[in-house]
Amino acid sequence: MSSTACNGAAGAPEVAILKGVRYPGGLRSLLIMAALLPLAALSLLAMLLRDLWRNPRSFLSSRPRRTELADLPPELAGVQPVGFDTEPGVRLTGWTFGPRPSRPLLLFLHGFPECWYSWRDQLTHLKDRYEVVALDMRGYNKSSKPAGIAAYDLERLTADVAAVAAALGRSRITLVAHDWGGAIAWAVAGRYPGLVERLAVLAAPQWFMYLRNLTLEQAARSYYFLWFLLPVLPELLLLHTDAHFMEALWLGAGKNEFSPRRRGACTPQDVEIYKAALQEPGSVTAALNYYRATLLTEAGLMKPHPEVVAALRRQLDMPVLVVWGKHDHALCLTNNIDIDQVAPRVRLHVLPEASHWVQADAPERLNAILDQWLADNPVSPTEHLDTAAAAAAAGNGGGSGLQQRGAAAAAAVTAAAGSAGKAAAAVAAGVTSQAVTVAEAAQEKVVEVAEAAQEKVAELAAAAQAAVEAAEEGLRSRAKKQQQTQPASE
Ligand SMILES: *[C@@H]1O[C@H](CO)[C@@H](O)[C@H](O)[C@H]1NC(C)=O
Ligand SMILES: *[C@@H]1O[C@H](CO)[C@@H](O)[C@H](O)[C@H]1NC(C)=O
Repeated sequence: MSSTACNGAAGAPEVAILKGVRYPGGLRSLLIMAALLPLAALSLLAMLLRDLWRNPRSFLSSRPRRTELADLPPELAGVQPVGFDTEPGVRLTGWTFGPRPSRPLLLFLHGFPECWYSWRDQLTHLKDRYEVVALDMRGYNKSSKPAGIAAYDLERLTADVAAVAAALGRSRITLVAHDWGGAIAWAVAGRYPGLVERLAVLAAPQWFMYLRNLTLEQAARSYYFLWFLLPVLPELLLLHTDAHFMEALWLGAGKNEFSPRRRGACTPQDVEIYKAALQEPGSVTAALNYYRATLLTEAGLMKPHPEVVAALRRQLDMPVLVVWGKHDHALCLTNNIDIDQVAPRVRLHVLPEASHWVQADAPERLNAILDQWLADNPVSPTEHLDTAAAAAAAGNGGGSGLQQRGAAAAAAVTAAAGSAGKAAAAVAAGVTSQAVTVAEAAQEKVVEVAEAAQEKVAELAAAAQAAVEAAEEGLRSRAKKQQQTQPASE
């Protein structure tokens, strides 16, 4: 494919309100990060020490797990893994009920720290009417885990999605994406607008919209990004004591604010499945590298790819669905202020009972919303059959075109990121060893400091809550207006 076959983006209008938005970079971002990193390191270390103190024996334990197809819930019977080579040496797994060339393709992109399985209720609901494929994103479960932080920047992550579509022989796809998958999907739609004919995003900001209005509350809620920038410690946080974190997360309804809100949203068996995927060697580091690549880019230590920057400034013409949980602990609804400037055909749903984990908290509501939106925005299945040229375009030729450009860019990015990564690692290592000294000297003090810091964050969040409520109100009436005007534009 010439890049235009898939991109088709030249000349698409830029979003006026995003013209001045860029990855911050510069000395100021570096200084802010350097100032905050020690606090992040201390608080993370304090948590780890607390957990170690409670359970010294089992801290480094992990049970061997076996999740075979037979262990999946019976309603997923018939789902099969299929491999996609997206660049030399990178093979991703997708999960599907088989090809249906005469039906539109729905491609599902999961978030952190999940895997394809987060879409179980949508897959079973939609599989008879569509070809459904749920990807294990780069790094997750058996999907390849290329080395280095630069392998997880938005340029690679978006190219993966285009390559998967090409491998499926599709020139037009519908993306359904959550969290990190959603952030990637926004960028895929901007980079390959001819490819993405419908875009559904759950609980994930368009990244330049996030950067445009990074409010104090949103910054406070994103504090864990700084944890994830540190080496080794966040890996330990997620994996120690047989990945106990996953139990706290998925079974913590009513206890942990970062958990789903619905009791029974996940079963212990679901947790076993998530754990098995995350305990694949290298998987956690790969998953954390998505955050590391983003933060290093924001700090100016990695160069954003020009195509990604252009993609994030581009107005999206396709129908866009945005679904958000009102109780999202990580991402504020304010990320959607003026989202209709980015996607004029946007429809926004705020789910009053849902947390960030939309699929887990509101599976049936989500299925109903998807059904309605897909029905209101039909695509022609025959277009999907008319693929002789498109498939050839989107197939091998396209792959290699992408790959060549990717490879050239990758070399540059890798070189830049190599030294940047080393610098950051040195900073972080310094910070960490300092933190270890402090912590050894006064472990209890550290715990206090961390708890005080956490409280401050909570206070901040609470203070900003009122502002959010007001903004939500505005959004809801905007959404209502939009839904009223939507049919007229069809
Ligand atoms: C991880 O991949 C293996 C091999 O395809 C598969 O047996 C297992 O069920 C997968 N785990 C999950 C959670 O998808
Ligand atoms: C940013 O978000 C706040 C709410 O936290 C809102 O009041 C403000 O208008 C937003 N600014 C922009 C530029 O969207």
